[in-house]
Amino acid sequence: MYVCMCYGITDKSIASVVKNQGVGNIRELRQHLELGDQCGKCIQMAQEVIDSTIIDDSLFKEVC
Ligand code: FES
Repeated sequence: MYVCMCYGITDKSIASVVKNQGVGNIRELRQHLELGDQCGKCIQMAQEVIDSTIIDDSLFKEVC
């Protein structure tokens, strides 16, 4: 699913950066991916993807 239409950034791209680079917020995410500086409509959804990826990861670690 596309999160940022201006730059063609998907939720999978964001989740990958969160998991592999330890990104936890939009400021850190923008150091790795170009998004949010055209129309800005993707910022809220990008934060939701970051949050849900972190929550999914922490749940997975507790199971193991
Ligand atoms: S949708 Fe991301 S900057 Fe426009």
